[in-house]
Formats: sequence, structure tokens, C-alpha cells
Amino acid sequence: METSDGEAHCPVSSFNEWDLLEEVIVGVVDGACFPPSHVSLEAPLPHDQRAVFRKNAGRPFPPEQIAAAQKELDEFVHILEGEGVTVRRPVPSDQLQPYGAPGWSSTGLYDAMPRDVLLVVGNDIIECPMAWRSRYYATTSFKPLLKEYFKKGARWSAGPKPELKDELYDYNWTEPTNGGPVQFVITEFEPTFDAADFIRCGTDIIAQKSNVTNDFGIAWLARHLGDTYRIHVFEFNDPHAMHIDATLVPLAPGKLLINPERVPEVPRIFKGWDVFHAPKPIIPSEHTLYMTSKWINMNILSLDEKRVIVEHQDEPMIAALKSWGFKPIPCNFRNFNSFGGSFHCATLDVRRRGKLESYLLDGME
Ligand code: NVA
Repeated sequence: METSDGEAHCPVSSFNEWDLLEEVIVGVVDGACFPPSHVSLEAPLPHDQRAVFRKNAGRPFPPEQIAAAQKELDEFVHILEGEGVTVRRPVPSDQLQPYGAPGWSSTGLYDAMPRDVLLVVGNDIIECPMAWRSRYYATTSFKPLLKEYFKKGARWSAGPKPELKDELYDYNWTEPTNGGPVQFVITEFEPTFDAADFIRCGTDIIAQKSNVTNDFGIAWLARHLGDTYRIHVFEFNDPHAMHIDATLVPLAPGKLLINPERVPEVPRIFKGWDVFHAPKPIIPSEHTLYMTSKWINMNILSLDEKRVIVEHQDEPMIAALKSWGFKPIPCNFRNFNSFGGSFHCATLDVRRRGKLESYLLDGME
């Protein structure tokens, strides 16, 4: 593809979380199912949901909750299109189709959160080697888009296909005791990572180890990306760590939103950035959140350095964003939040207009 000035143009190009968003994949929640019971789910799930997941293992989520989330996704797509963003959607997969590999079998989860499944770094779109057996085929629904992007010039990569044998999991995992060290439920048996454990800031990528992302996975990604990029791994106060985007969210260059409970000390590489403390979430306790804490209120999507999509009912966050100089665009999303994500999780920015730059202290040294 060529632009009017004759410059080569790749359909996949995104280096950070805030450049002008041109094309985005928005997930679908159709057919979402509770995964089969497994120790890997216990560690990252909210405490009160573990029994719910065991009881409903392998069954669909309540249809009325799926329908309510679908309606909100439609509103979200409408807003994005109105703001000039091209929206692409995956083809929903049958999550109840059984599959397996030597030593195990499973059914699926959902195609709702492209941010977990695929990582875009520059022109490269990477299929992640995910640790949950229920997400082994999580990229299937996105394959038509991956093929199309590749044919139009994108780089298309995939992490080493994991075996997901029992050796990957700590079957003796228990909840960390107060003040005790956090134990992750996965081992270093093979590389695994979810894309949502990485936040892109140009040449510097911030990562966390979690209950789905191990050192081996981070090392694989670092070598795959090469010397152009530096991955910085930090540990946060998150006893159920899975995905960094309700902990640390760069909204624009020099503007970092942090979870005040999880980030007692902002990493030094953000020196010189404005640091905003996310307001306390106001999601009522009666509202079911199957797979996330209430801090999902921080899971904001930047359309550019000013426009940010935020949950319609989250008045404290809307007011805070305005006071920090942003232009919040409200969208109803609380029913979608029940499935474990918000605007950042539900999307994958395929193309943002911008180039590779360094924004952090270490990247500039
Ligand atoms: N695991 C995080 C959500 C990440 C989007 C949390 O529960 O806060």
C-alpha cells in the first residue's frame, strides 16, 4: 500500500499506547464460556469467583450478560468509528468445541480480549504463547485478519507453540499469605506470555511477570524483538497478577496513570513524567466481575494524546481525566467489564500514526 506522498505504508504499525489511532481490532463476546477447571485459573481470579468458575466449568456465561456486553461493544464500535477509527472484528469461534494435546484436553474461553492474545510492536503482529489451556487456540478467530495484514506487508510472528504439560503449572499453588512472597502458578518449563503483560512506550517496553507470563517468555520476546527494543521488567503489588493494564497505563507521552495500591514507587525510568493516581473505582460490589478487580476502571484506551475512552458511569475518572487535560469520551462498558476487561483489553491497536521514538530515561541514555 502507498500513501499519497509515495511512502510505503504497512497496515500494522504501532509503537506505543497513545499515537493517533487509525485502525483497531475490537473483540467479540459471542459464545463466551467458563473454561474447564484448572489450577492456572485459581491464582489470577478474584477470590470470590474461584468457586463460581469451578461450578460452571465448561458452560456458557449467562446469555443475558453476554447480550448486555454485546450491546456495549456495539456502542464502543460506533464511538470509535465516529472518531474516525477503522474498526475490525474477529470471527467468533465455537468455544465449546473440545480440543487437546498430549496429556490434556480443554474447551475455550472467548474472543473478547484481543489485547491478551496478540502483541503489535511496530510492523510485527505476534501471536502469544498463552499459558491457559483454554486459550491455546485463542488466535483462531483473528486468523483472517492476520492473513490479510501479512499479505499487505505486515510481519506475522508467533511465540514457540507451548506444550502446556503439567510441568508448566504448580499444582501446589496456594494463595500468598499476608506479606509473604507472591508465588506464581506457572513455572519456567517453557516460554509463555500474554500480550497484556506488556505496555509499549516506543523503544522501551514495560513488562511484569505474572500468573501467565514467565521469565522464559519475556526472554523469548526480548530476543525476538532484538536490540532496537528494551524490555524492563517490574514487580508490582498485585497478588493475583495477570495483565499490567490495570496497574500502569501510559495515556500520552509524559503522562502515566498508576494504580496507587499496586505501584508504591514509580519506576525510575519514568522520571520527568506526570504521574496520575487513578481515582478509586466506584463499581458497586453487587456488579459481577468474573475475572478482574474493580481497578478495571483504569483500563482506558487513548485515541491520541488527548482523547481517551472511559466508562460512562465512572464520574470520578471522567472528572480526573478532564482536570489532567484530557478529553474523555464516555462509553457504557460495565457489563463488558464483567468478562474481565475494559477498553484497552477489548482492543488491539493495529495502526497508530507515528514512528519509533524513545520516551523514557533509559531509552534516551
Ligand atoms: N488482572 C487485573 C486486570 C487487568 C486488565 C485486575 O484484576 O485488576
